[in-house]
Amino acid sequence: MATERVLSTQSTSTDEPQNWALRPTRLSEYIGQAELLERLRIAIEAAKRRKEPLEHLLLHGPPGLGKTTLAHVLAQEMGTKVVLTSGPALARGTDLVASLTRLQTGDILFIDEVHRLPIAVEEFIYPAMEDFRIDVTLDGGLSARTVQVRCKPFTLVGATTRAGLLSAPLRSRFGIVHHLKYYSHDELLAILRRSAAMLEVPIPDPAALSTIAARSRGTPRIANRLLRRVRDYTTVRADGRLTAAVVDAALKLEGVDPLGLDDLDRGYLRCLGTTYNGGPVGLEALAATMNEDPGTLEDVVEPYVLQIGFLARTRRGRALTRAACEHLGLACTPQAEGLFDEPTV
Ligand SMILES: Nc1ncnc2c1ncn2[C@@H]1O[C@H](COP(=O)(O)OP(=O)(O)O)[C@@H](O)[C@H]1O
Ligand SMILES: [Mg+2]
Repeated sequence: MATERVLSTQSTSTDEPQNWALRPTRLSEYIGQAELLERLRIAIEAAKRRKEPLEHLLLHGPPGLGKTTLAHVLAQEMGTKVVLTSGPALARGTDLVASLTRLQTGDILFIDEVHRLPIAVEEFIYPAMEDFRIDVTLDGGLSARTVQVRCKPFTLVGATTRAGLLSAPLRSRFGIVHHLKYYSHDELLAILRRSAAMLEVPIPDPAALSTIAARSRGTPRIANRLLRRVRDYTTVRADGRLTAAVVDAALKLEGVDPLGLDDLDRGYLRCLGTTYNGGPVGLEALAATMNEDPGTLEDVVEPYVLQIGFLARTRRGRALTRAACEHLGLACTPQAEGLFDEPTV
């Protein structure tokens, strides 16, 4: 995509420097994900008592829900540091060696997009996770020899948006596996309140933050980004007074509707609703009509429209639900209605 979507769950170029300041640094500041936090509190306490590193942890779930943040928080709680890398960055086993040998006892190695770890590297990682050693083959051909490199006991924190793509042997080596859920309205509100205080945004109207939370698609990264956009708008157009009406105007300008849908989402739903009469239609056909990449639609648009019950994924393809037709003001087709009871794929 040429333009950066304000609703993108991916971190955009303007996000990172700003987000650092807003990132929770302790577990007590980390909002939501109650079950996960409870599991981690127990794991941290147990590891500390035994003077061992934390168990290897696999976090999976949609982007922007706080996986990277959590890796930093865990290091902070354990009094250790975190080394960041990602699946695609580790092309060869030796790349992994470089990361591993930088680790001190108890440090956290965070591997983002762990499902994109090349198979060759995955094999190096097994002995590293289990016995804290890596077998490296030096030179090729006749003079090849294997050296064993030891590393300090560490904790691997893997993050992935696609847990299904992870190999079974890798998955089974994580002691704790947890799926991060979308945040509730109240949790997003709490995050926004905290961020607003940190950004020193005065909020006279409590409904203002609620309006932002409702459009954040259950995602803290989006909530914080919308807050920053709204703050800019408020400064320039509304004398710094942040009210629900100002939020409405600011987000309308960004093309974000009351449900948190933007032009791309609406374009997708409209295409399905008009060109394909509500479906069912295959993703490929839909993508071709919209001149979009099917993968983009699947990763960027569909998770949220599925979650709010606007889309049904059936064996025969994608179909609009009645709620979507009503939201878009389209005549709903009986065809789509009949598909609701079909198993989704
Ligand atoms: N539980 C949370 N409490 C408060 N803020 C959060 C929380 N989770 C995420 N955030 C905010 O959302 C942003 C995106 O989180 P991040 O950890 O980068 O997501 P991920 O790695 O899952 O894509 C962070 O910069 C942080 O400010
Ligand atoms: Mg991340």
